[in-house]
This record gives sequence, structure tokens and C-alpha cells, in this order.
Amino acid sequence: MILITGATGTIGTEVTRLLAQAGVPARAMTRDPARAGGSAVRGDFEDPRSLAAATAGVRAALLLTGFGPRLAEHDRAFVAAAEKAGVGKIVKISAIGAQDTGDPGDVASQHAAGERAVTGSSAAWTILRPSMFATNALAWADAVKAGQPIPNMTGGGRQGIVDPRDIAALAVAALTGSGHDGRVYEVTGPDLLTVADQAELIGKAIGRRVETVDVPIEQAAAQIPDPAYARAAAKGWAFIASGGNAVVTTAVRDVLGREARGFGQWAEENKKAFQNNAG
Ligand SMILES: NC(=O)c1ccc[n+]([C@@H]2O[C@H](COP(=O)([O-])OP(=O)(O)OC[C@H]3O[C@@H](n4cnc5c(N)ncnc54)[C@H](OP(=O)(O)O)[C@@H]3O)[C@@H](O)[C@H]2O)c1
Repeated sequence: MILITGATGTIGTEVTRLLAQAGVPARAMTRDPARAGGSAVRGDFEDPRSLAAATAGVRAALLLTGFGPRLAEHDRAFVAAAEKAGVGKIVKISAIGAQDTGDPGDVASQHAAGERAVTGSSAAWTILRPSMFATNALAWADAVKAGQPIPNMTGGGRQGIVDPRDIAALAVAALTGSGHDGRVYEVTGPDLLTVADQAELIGKAIGRRVETVDVPIEQAAAQIPDPAYARAAAKGWAFIASGGNAVVTTAVRDVLGREARGFGQWAEENKKAFQNNAG
């Protein structure tokens, strides 16, 4: 039995689908099984008893903790439950650039602390450190539909935008295959792209030009109500703008034996999200 945490989210939904397609017995975890439907089990990283029940009889688990100040705590709580239940393997979704920055509120520091819980556990482990998800572009859908420019806080900063389906496929390989124990994979798409490059590819998919507009980081951060999240976002944008995330790896090709999906393909497949009913 494989346990999928974060099963209702972007990566977890695809991992659940791939395991079902492969006929691998799997258990999806959510805080609200009624909402999730199907055979999901209840599990909350804040509730150790629910984690004990969710991990019972599980041989391998996908550990996906949502971004927030409790991320590392959630990783630790899950690892404690998994160790007690004798889970043999944990695959953690981390983030590219995970490292101790000296600021425990940073995404990078939170994931680094979570990684330490996993790599220090008695279970075998694989860490996936994805780059920026292609699906984040869905946040631009309303602007694109309204014919407005996409706000750009990262200037000419380039990133190896990754299709979450490739992250999920790597996670499934690590959960079900051999040769991945003790490995840390930085997972990126095939190309380094700026926000302007992404806008151009969305424009190509929908058949009209999509513009971008530079927005100062402080101005964009001021619009985020949660101060901790605003600070983390501002740091992330500055890092990307400075070229810090200009990284492309061959993890998808190395593990899956095929090329990573590009952002152009993602935009083409998701173009309806950026089009008005009229097209
Ligand atoms: N977006 C990016 O560009 C990017 C890049 C690199 C790394 N990442 C990392 O990827 C992860 C996010 O992945 P995603 O986008 O697939 O997730 P997502 O779509 O945001 O979904 C979050 C999931 O976490 C679950 N969850 C939240 N709080 C929970 C709790 N207290 N107990 C149990 N489950 C809880 C939710 O389940 P229920 O609501 O059903 O309980 C949901 O399935 C984060 O760790 C983020 O740092 C993201």
C-alpha cells in the first residue's frame, strides 16, 4: 500500500492517477475525505492520531506538505508517524534551492528542515526538489482573459519551469521503482524561461499577443495580506530576478528516459484557461 499525502493538490492528484493507472494499491490522504470523494482517508499533519491511522500498513509514502510556517513541523510529524508504522520509504516533495538561509521563515529553510527529518529517519528516502511549476501561470488567467498584461516581478530572471505531471511521474518512479533511495533530484523543465518568454508561449497557444508589465517587488508584496507570505514571496522574486533559479537539470530524462515537457506544450494543453468563451 502506498500513501499519498497532499492527494487533493496539484502533484498529489496526478500521483494518485498514475498509481491507479498502473494498478498499484494506493491510499489518498486529505483533511476532508467527504469533499475529496472516493476512497480517501482522513489525515491532518496537525493531528498525530490521524497520521497513525493513515500510515498503518503502508510500505511507501509521498510526503507533500503545503507551503506555510508549519511546513517543517508537518514533515516532522509525518516522519514520526511513519517510523512508528514501519513505513519503508518516504518520497518528499521539497523545492529547488532548499537550504538553511538563516531565516527559518523562508521556504528554502522550511523545506531544508523538512528534508532533514526525512533523511534522518529510519525509512529509505528520495527527495524531489522541483523548480517553479508551470501551473502557477494559471494565476495569470484572469489578466490574460481581460486582455491585460501579466505582472512581472522577476524581470529578466530565467527559470526551468516544470510541468507538475513530470514531478508526479518522478515521484511514482521513486515510490515504486528501485535505484532512487538516498537520491536528491532537482526537477526542472527543459528550457530556461523568463516571464516574458512564458507570456509569449501562452500568446502562441491562444493566438494573440500577451504582454507583461514590470511590477516592483515591494509593490507586489504589499498586496499580499499575510506578512509572512509577502516576505517569502518578495525574497523568492528577488532570488529569481537575480538569476538564482536559472537552473535546468536532466532529472526527468535520467529517471524517466524521456524529455521533460516544455512550457509551450503545457500552455497549448491548458489554453482554454486563458481564453474567454468567445476564444
Ligand atoms: N508551486 C510551485 O511552483 C512549487 C515549486 C517548488 C516546490 N513547491 C512545493 O510543492 C508543494 C505544494 O505542492 P502542490 O502544489 O501539489 O500542493 P497544493 O496543490 O497546494 O495542495 C496542498 C495539499 O496539501 C494538503 N494539506 C494542506 N494542509 C494540510 C494538513 N494540515 N494536513 C494534511 N494535508 C494538508 C491539501 O490537502 P487537503 O486540503 O485535501 O487536506 C492539499 O492536497 C509545497 O511544499 C511547495 O513548497 C511548489
